Amino acid sequence: MSLFPTHRPRRLRRTPALRRLVAETSLEPRHLVLPMFVADGIDEPREISSMPGVFQHTPDSLRRAATEAVEAGLGGLMLFGVPRPDDKDAEGSGASDPDGILNRGLRWLADEVGDATVIMADTCLDEFTDHGHCGVLDANGAVDNDLTLQRYVDMAVAQAEAGAHLLGPSGMMDGQVAAIRKALDDAGYTDVGQLAYSAKYASAFYGPFREAVGSSLQGDRRTYQQDSANRRESLREVDLDIDEGADMVMVKPAMSYLDVLRETADRSPVPVAAYQISGEYSMITAAAQNGWIDRDAAILESLTSIRRAGADVVLTYWATEAAGWL
Ligand code: PBG
Repeated sequence: MSLFPTHRPRRLRRTPALRRLVAETSLEPRHLVLPMFVADGIDEPREISSMPGVFQHTPDSLRRAATEAVEAGLGGLMLFGVPRPDDKDAEGSGASDPDGILNRGLRWLADEVGDATVIMADTCLDEFTDHGHCGVLDANGAVDNDLTLQRYVDMAVAQAEAGAHLLGPSGMMDGQVAAIRKALDDAGYTDVGQLAYSAKYASAFYGPFREAVGSSLQGDRRTYQQDSANRRESLREVDLDIDEGADMVMVKPAMSYLDVLRETADRSPVPVAAYQISGEYSMITAAAQNGWIDRDAAILESLTSIRRAGADVVLTYWATEAAGWL
């Protein structure tokens, strides 16, 4: 009896050149988007303790990091604003104030990099509300969907005016994409698009982000973000957002939801993004700091896997660094 196997898949794995020749998935700088934080009232960039290597930026450090990102060939930047605690209120007024930190930050980015990369804005109230929710509250303390849409609309127009190319509505309110589309069109911003956070789960892995933006959230977001038990619901959210005019859709978080990402990519007629979120960053960073995993290899494997699962675009805090390796 012959011991020779009939099939030898290992042949194509023998050398780096063979592996490169048959790699099904590519990862290029243009696929990567860097989330950035700009904070009001700080003189020096402030490192986020639960996300070593990620900073709340000053105007100067924001501009420097944006220039580096452009030089690295990144696909885009996603900006979050961190207001002073005293500037937060129940309605998140700072979000729609043209002089609010996020809108000022967008202007700094637009001024620094222009159209050399894609400038995106987080369109959500949680960084700006004193209660930390993504919307405004009704008399019983529940997040009021339709009143919140009024706030998103004002915020969206202010962000378009500040120079964002794409808005990222991330609050998971029903009808947010349609409401924002109409407001942008009415204000003359027909060319400003939306990268809709369509399938966004209530995730424990957002923990470090709450520190990153100084969120004051009490309770949780389970009445508006999705339950991790569900996948069909995501497909419905994606369909609704596309129907409402989303130019791109997003699945978030990434690594625990690669099945949802694959199904979304298979059916979406628009480009699909996935967000490798704060907790994913922190887990790999912490394990690597303990010497338990090979940091750079783990980062590249995670990003490649998110691309393999169907993401056209990956938001990752490692975007600039990883682009430098590619
Ligand atoms: C909402 C928003 C959040 C993140 C992005 N946009 C926080 C949340 O929904 O609780 C999380 C990003 C991350 O964890 O890296 N403005």
